[in-house]
Amino acid sequence: MENSLTVVDNRTGKQYNFPIMYGTYPNYGAAIRSADLRQIKASEDDFGLLGYDPAFLNTASCKSKVTFIDGERGILRYRGYSIEDLATKGNYLEVAYLLLHGELPTHDQLADWTKNIMHHVLIHENMKKFMDGFLYDAHPMGILVGTVAALSTLYPEARNISDPMVRRMQFYRLIAKMPTIAAFAYRHSIGMPYSYPDCDLGYTGNFFNMMFKRTELKYQPDPVLEKALDILFILHADHEQNCSASAMRNVGSSLPDPYVSIAAAAAALYGPLHGGANEQVLRMLREIGSKDKIPDYIKRVKSGELKLMGFGHRVYKNYDPRAKILKEMADQVFEVTGKNELLNIALELERIALEDDYFIKRRLYPNVDFYSGIIYQAMNFPVDMFPVLFAIPRTVGWLAQWEEMLNDPEQKIARPRQVYTGYDCRSYVPMEERNSKV
Ligand code: SDX
Repeated sequence: MENSLTVVDNRTGKQYNFPIMYGTYPNYGAAIRSADLRQIKASEDDFGLLGYDPAFLNTASCKSKVTFIDGERGILRYRGYSIEDLATKGNYLEVAYLLLHGELPTHDQLADWTKNIMHHVLIHENMKKFMDGFLYDAHPMGILVGTVAALSTLYPEARNISDPMVRRMQFYRLIAKMPTIAAFAYRHSIGMPYSYPDCDLGYTGNFFNMMFKRTELKYQPDPVLEKALDILFILHADHEQNCSASAMRNVGSSLPDPYVSIAAAAAALYGPLHGGANEQVLRMLREIGSKDKIPDYIKRVKSGELKLMGFGHRVYKNYDPRAKILKEMADQVFEVTGKNELLNIALELERIALEDDYFIKRRLYPNVDFYSGIIYQAMNFPVDMFPVLFAIPRTVGWLAQWEEMLNDPEQKIARPRQVYTGYDCRSYVPMEERNSKV
């Protein structure tokens, strides 16, 4: 059987043959080149056929080796390693190395990678003045997006993105500085002095230090919470061509420096349908308030008035494997922090939803944001920091997608086509002849 697609254009009776291209799995991700469709013309002067795919539900924008998701089977792998293995056996900086380099680091490679990243955790003192300019109650995601973009003014050499060594230096800086910017944004919002990095504590422990250190000489993070946050960072590190990764590739394709591209990706992540969902999950649970109010809330969701935040996914049409890991991990966190009513509401909400035909028919299951929000809340992170906690680990995923795009000979500036449905050519209307009906 030839690996090709034969189509007949019924307008002309002409037959066309298109080769079918495959990725790693013959039954997942086979594609035809959309550009081949342009051969199909109804007449000599016809532009040729386009593929019409609003929101890119069925469009492969690239070939990628970084992350594999099988939504039907609930599979998530980074560079071929299962998320279950990486979450239980690895640590975040090791996974960050894997995503960017394609292989797990040796002991010396990880030591060198960690040293280089921890060397860059400080931010230019002028950035503090920049951040102090935000109102005290500015949303930390707004501060993060603005400050990351502003970093591009500190490192003009970063515009030389054709130099792999220049790109590598920005990897170190961005992975290192995102937690610092995030923590400083939080401290600004509560009127606390910035808590400077303490590299003795490691990448994730130092984040707790910068967030929660008060007057003690040396902050000591709780090891259970530190491990839990490191797993959360691993689970959020990349997720193939999601909305924010697509933003990173799209903006990155016009070849600006990586700081403004990361700012664009973080802006996409901020939306309540994407990385802002974990914040909305908490607001939803608080609005529900108690388990006995759940049936009424579900009624409002089923009427179409509301969405059940933390449920549903474009790709996972069964349980999000990250949510499964988080659900199991939540108990360890709550042993340290104490359970809270919101978790009880969340568990009851999940139980009810998973038995309700409305959600079953639409294949709506808890996604990563459903449990991450409850865990972050138990760790005393304020709700508006939740999307920031998503952006920190996802920075390496965005960089891995960006690096792959830059090295892909088939990629060029992103510029999709459209199906024009507007007016045909028409003459200018003098002011006195215009009517206000429009
Ligand atoms: C992330 O893409 C990624 O990989 C993202 C992410 C990553 O790691 O990068 O996984 C992170 O963004 C997770 C998703 C977080 N968002 C939320 O939890 C917000 C709530 N979920 C939805 O808004 C929605 O499920 C999406 C946006 C996640 C997915 O939406 P789709 O695939 O576009 O599906 P859809 O909107 O076409 O919905 C299909 C049907 C519709 O019903 P009908 O019109 O057919 O009657 O399901 C309904 C929707 O109304 N539906 C929901 C629902 N999600 C979809 N109904 C109630 N509650 C929901 N949450």
